[in-house]
Amino acid sequence: MSAPARPLRLEGLVKRFGDHAVLEGVSLAVPEGEIVALLGPSGSGKTTLLRLVAGFERADAGRILLGEERIDELPPERRGFGMVFQHYALFPHRSVAGNVAFGLETRGLARAAIAARVEAALARVELGGLGGRRISEISGGQQQRVALARALAPEPPVLLLDEPLSNLDPSLRERTRRELAALLRALGITTLLVTHEQEEAFELGTRVALLHGGRLVQVGTPGEIYRAPATRFAAGFVGRASFVPVEVVAAGDGPVRVRGAGLPGGETEAEAAEALAVGERADAMLRPEALELAEPGTPRTLAGEVVAARFGGAWSWATVRAAGGLEVEVLVPGPPPALGAAVAVARRPDARPRVYRRETP
Ligand SMILES: Nc1ncnc2c1ncn2[C@@H]1O[C@H](COP(=O)(O)OP(=O)(O)OP(=O)(O)O)[C@@H](O)[C@H]1O
Ligand SMILES: [Mg+2]
Repeated sequence: MSAPARPLRLEGLVKRFGDHAVLEGVSLAVPEGEIVALLGPSGSGKTTLLRLVAGFERADAGRILLGEERIDELPPERRGFGMVFQHYALFPHRSVAGNVAFGLETRGLARAAIAARVEAALARVELGGLGGRRISEISGGQQQRVALARALAPEPPVLLLDEPLSNLDPSLRERTRRELAALLRALGITTLLVTHEQEEAFELGTRVALLHGGRLVQVGTPGEIYRAPATRFAAGFVGRASFVPVEVVAAGDGPVRVRGAGLPGGETEAEAAEALAVGERADAMLRPEALELAEPGTPRTLAGEVVAARFGGAWSWATVRAAGGLEVEVLVPGPPPALGAAVAVARRPDARPRVYRRETP
């Protein structure tokens, strides 16, 4: 039987290396049985956060709790978390079963008990019957599952995964991602996984925590983060988006009005992601699906030229460059227009842009 799942809570975690603060007060709750994907660009502190949770690093401030128990002063082996490292760290000279048994051998279990647990862990990741193979005799995707089985065999209360798919080639990656997503949901173990790829975070995580420069900028479901990114960074990092410079012409509680030469329609009501004052310069975010192409010369559109296009089957993407060099990306039904075509970009009537304070460089 698995140990009962308990929620994992991180409170105000700070980590410095020398005088470089890598984590600047990270608080995050992973409810029991949930899968939280920690997403962020390279260097944002993801691995450092995972290592703090696993116990390989000590925080300079803050606490880590599992259920009601404070665990950040325990060594890694007393936390007992299952960990899958970025490069799996499998033992090439051991068999598949020998790798999975590794975490059990130090616990003084009888050989028969170890063998039974190894078999159960391999069955959970659908590798039953492959225990006798050498690591070099199985595929990359299977190695990924061996690493997972090894982490699962001691029946950990929490599973930690660092870039679990990063050393698979692209063709295997997508399939393995799908299998891993199904597996993690079936396991029902409290899981924190790290990735710098949005698609991976969105498919694997039931919730996504977005990390930027050592701070959490947003925690939410993929849909929440996509529809209402909390910061200008989040808007640019998650999903595709174009940013159009605008000026705030009316502000109050609720929506603001913005105006900009590059905004299809010129002036519109917009959703303010942060408090904005009249006269302030801001960026309006437009998703490709919020825009459409129209005949050149159509009123209230942005005239431009198609400078890039990506065929996608039923839908395609066209990048349109307007006067002054502003580029916007538009989702178009069917094949994209030809490169160099003169087009007009309109805003779909129901799409209200979201605006962010202009970041001062
Ligand atoms: N042991 C260490 N000593 C000094 N600096 C470190 C140490 N470990 C990490 N850092 C620094 O901390 C920052 C965050 O590193 P971390 O490995 O957590 O990033 P990450 O988000 O996992 O990035 P990636 O996506 O590239 O794996 C980086 O600037 C890194 O150079
Ligand atoms: Mg990392």
